[in-house]
Amino acid sequence: MTARSLVWGLTAALWLAWGCGGGADDDPVARGRSSYLANCVACHSTNPRLPGPIGPPLAGSSRALIEAKVMRNEYPPGYRPKRSTHAMVPLPHLEPKLDDLAAYLGSVRPASIP
Ligand code: HEC
Repeated sequence: MTARSLVWGLTAALWLAWGCGGGADDDPVARGRSSYLANCVACHSTNPRLPGPIGPPLAGSSRALIEAKVMRNEYPPGYRPKRSTHAMVPLPHLEPKLDDLAAYLGSVRPASIP
């Protein structure tokens, strides 16, 4: 009896922790981080505050900037690009991920410019 209630107790605790603990699936920032690590770090740094092997730091990027660059390799009107190159490839299949990517990159404070 005691062992059985212990098992039930643990099961309930795990279920609660999983269901209510804000698992990665519920959190746009966590989902965005996964998308970022899966799709962007070939060129950008795994730490969005730092320059990557090819691409500039992305911390603090706005949704409009991310959308323009990822969908069309363009910039929003009036935006001053960090680089004058056009080496990034558009990744339009990531349209459903734009909100998550923006949530993640918007959550990282840019490194202060010395
Ligand atoms: C093939 C390499 C490559 C990949 C993959 C890549 N980028 Fe880029 N990205 C670049 C380069 C290089 C630049 C600098 C401008 C240029 O040359 O296009 C850039 C610039 C940017 C900028 C503009 C930064 C600024 O403020 O000027 C944003 C935003 C951006 N990338 C977002 C992303 C996101 C989000 C992903 C993943 C979904 C991604 N990039 C994947 C290479 C890449």
